[in-house]
Amino acid sequence: MIMNLCGVRKCKDIFRKNKWTLLIIVWTWVIVSLHLHYFLKNNNKNISRVDESEIHETVKIYEDKIVPEGKVKTYEELMSVKSYDVLLNSYMRGGSTLSGIVLGFRDDVFYLYEPLWKVARWVYWKDNSTICRSDKFKCLPVDAGDTVKDHGFYSNKGSIKGSLVMAQKILRKFYDCQFNDFERQVLETNIAVKLGGPSWRNIRLCMKHGHQEKLCLHKYAPRMCKNATHRVSKVLRLGTGLLGPMLEERKNLKAFHLFRDPRAIINSRINTKWYPSGSKDAILSNAQGLCDRMLSDFREGQKLLQKYPDRFKFLFYEDMVDEPFEKVKAIYRFVGMDLDEKLYPTVKELPVFTADKDQSEREKNSAFWWRKSLEWDVVKGMDTLCKDVYKELGYKSIQSFNDFRNLSISSVDLSRTYMLDIR
Ligand SMILES: *[C@@H]1O[C@H](CO)[C@@H](O)[C@H](O)[C@H]1NC(C)=O
Ligand SMILES: *[C@@H]1O[C@H](CO)[C@@H](O)[C@H](O)[C@H]1NC(C)=O
Ligand SMILES: *[C@@H]1O[C@H](CO)[C@@H](O)[C@H](O)[C@H]1NC(C)=O
Repeated sequence: MIMNLCGVRKCKDIFRKNKWTLLIIVWTWVIVSLHLHYFLKNNNKNISRVDESEIHETVKIYEDKIVPEGKVKTYEELMSVKSYDVLLNSYMRGGSTLSGIVLGFRDDVFYLYEPLWKVARWVYWKDNSTICRSDKFKCLPVDAGDTVKDHGFYSNKGSIKGSLVMAQKILRKFYDCQFNDFERQVLETNIAVKLGGPSWRNIRLCMKHGHQEKLCLHKYAPRMCKNATHRVSKVLRLGTGLLGPMLEERKNLKAFHLFRDPRAIINSRINTKWYPSGSKDAILSNAQGLCDRMLSDFREGQKLLQKYPDRFKFLFYEDMVDEPFEKVKAIYRFVGMDLDEKLYPTVKELPVFTADKDQSEREKNSAFWWRKSLEWDVVKGMDTLCKDVYKELGYKSIQSFNDFRNLSISSVDLSRTYMLDIR
């Protein structure tokens, strides 16, 4: 080939002349590639260091993305969560009022107190095909879209009948700040307006000036709701498993499930005027229903903890009121709320935060006061009905009456895993 392109002599010349050029080219190539290799290696290290955390974040977000209906959100949509809305799930007399005040009585929050009160006063949906009484141990199968046929099942005079689908729609509309049909399905002056805290201030004032409730609601609620950094609601009528689809659907929602010693809850129910407790048998049926529900909520909640570790959390009342101020801040941190104390003046005034010597024994020891008042018979009865819940949640059955009344003997041994991290 070469022979054809150049004559033998001519070719020799070319090689001689270019020997040095060739050598230079080869050396340059070696040096450049060595540098390049070094540069890329180091740069890769930096890139992968940055990427690792980014990918971790992204993957965490994308893991949530397996939406059954094929509603896949874009990366931009997923990344656009600026602040979180909050759902607090619990039980009647479960310490939810206090926790609701902690989360809801803030100037940057719009708070809705018990949105499902009107559709399900004495019942709750355990899962998407079961409805249960919340004052006794009794459940019925019911389709998500249907209301209960058994008329004795709802003993809620004056309230409307609703299905699970309706209940979920009420919550969805609230987090979207839509208040159409709110008067009929949700609004109850003595509940939402009176107990809703600072969010409802304008509406209460408007009503005080003699205006119609409906007018005041529509004048202020949508604006207050949209302007708030966080929307918070306290819900007592859904099994924890039912929060799964809501967390799936709303990337800016975080949820808590609040537990409390079932013996404390039962004691509080017995001592609450409006709560129907009745005979000892009725009390134990109530306890059985409660413990059954708690066990199911604990198991469903564990699935949510797996799936949404950053957006779902168990709270324990006994943990919360032990060092309350620090625990409250941990709750705020979890949902990304501002820690500036000016935003929650009411919360700071709560008896649990003020170590006042004028406080009654009961106020000083709100988590364990029940041990001074609950009857021993009921305690023994509950030990049998609730032993599985005690075991899972860390509540202890107490052997003798004397030990029961002696508050220096502990009745809880909560798992560290579920305690609030106060740093
Ligand atoms: C109801 O719940 C079951 C079990 O959790 C689930 O497999 C099913 O898809 C749910 N149905 C609806 C309509 O959400
Ligand atoms: C909207 O929220 C901001 C900050 O939270 C507050 O300063 C402002 O007064 C609010 N406006 C209305 C109309 O509520
Ligand atoms: C209460 O329990 C503590 C710890 O076991 C014990 O030291 C104390 O004597 C008990 N008090 C009464 C009144 O039994």
